[in-house]
Amino acid sequence: MAEAKRAGKVTLVGAGPGDPDLLTVKAARLIGAAEVVVYDRLVSPEILALIPPQTERIYAGKALGNHHLIQDEINDLLLGLAQAGRDVVRLKGGDSFVFGRGSEEALHLARHGIAFEVIPGISAAAGCSTYAGIPLTHRGLATGVQFVTGHLREDRELELDWGKLADPATTLVIYMGLQALPEISAHLIAAGLAPDTPAAAIENGTTPRQRRVTGTLATLSDLTRAMGLQAPTLIVIGAVVSLSEDLDWFTAQHATP
Ligand SMILES: C[S@@+](CC[C@H](N)C(=O)[O-])C[C@H]1O[C@@H](n2cnc3c(N)ncnc32)[C@H](O)[C@@H]1O
Repeated sequence: MAEAKRAGKVTLVGAGPGDPDLLTVKAARLIGAAEVVVYDRLVSPEILALIPPQTERIYAGKALGNHHLIQDEINDLLLGLAQAGRDVVRLKGGDSFVFGRGSEEALHLARHGIAFEVIPGISAAAGCSTYAGIPLTHRGLATGVQFVTGHLREDRELELDWGKLADPATTLVIYMGLQALPEISAHLIAAGLAPDTPAAAIENGTTPRQRRVTGTLATLSDLTRAMGLQAPTLIVIGAVVSLSEDLDWFTAQHATP
């Protein structure tokens, strides 16, 4: 009788925001020994360059507006590879469990009896704000942080608790918020957050392509437009942004003499 094929294992690996030196030791080891890597649009070219030439690479990028369908296909792709006996490194930008849909992929595998592991990565909130000289908390300026997504689902209104988010004592970090920034700013101001609250946008954070713009809640949207910022861009709103000029170690280090 033919032996049943051993199923492979899927390891969800958080690749961090872009700088390859921000990979965990475990992530770097797994990438360097991978049999097959399934990766997202957000994984930086510098990190993709660490995948050995003999490793099979499968791109699983997502087109805007078509998330749902494609996510199902990605779930099935991972399942199919594992059922065929392949050990898969599933490489995702930032941390797989922070607005990364990694938990949906892991649930799909769990429901089909496939073994999986999850390796945390540095999420954009931590990586990009630090490389932009913005501490997410600072004594006297912010006692906490709120992470939200500003992604508009199928042209629906953003369903966020604006009253809770418009808190001058906490820092607000918005993932996928560039497109809806005019609406987000208007909602926060209407909910009572001062229009002159410091605010920043960070594009391609932690990479040599990083661009940062700072302004206020009232001005940031126009500033991002004037600079032509594109995804991936992270928005940070709160008094801590006022420290960014003094703490901007990254631009200082990369300034051409
Ligand atoms: C689908 S979410 C994925 C978040 C990811 N799982 C994480 O933990 O960072 C994509 C959003 O993360 C933010 N982002 C991720 N990497 C970034 C980077 N290098 N620079 C700026 N924003 C980034 C942007 O807001 C982008 O639209």
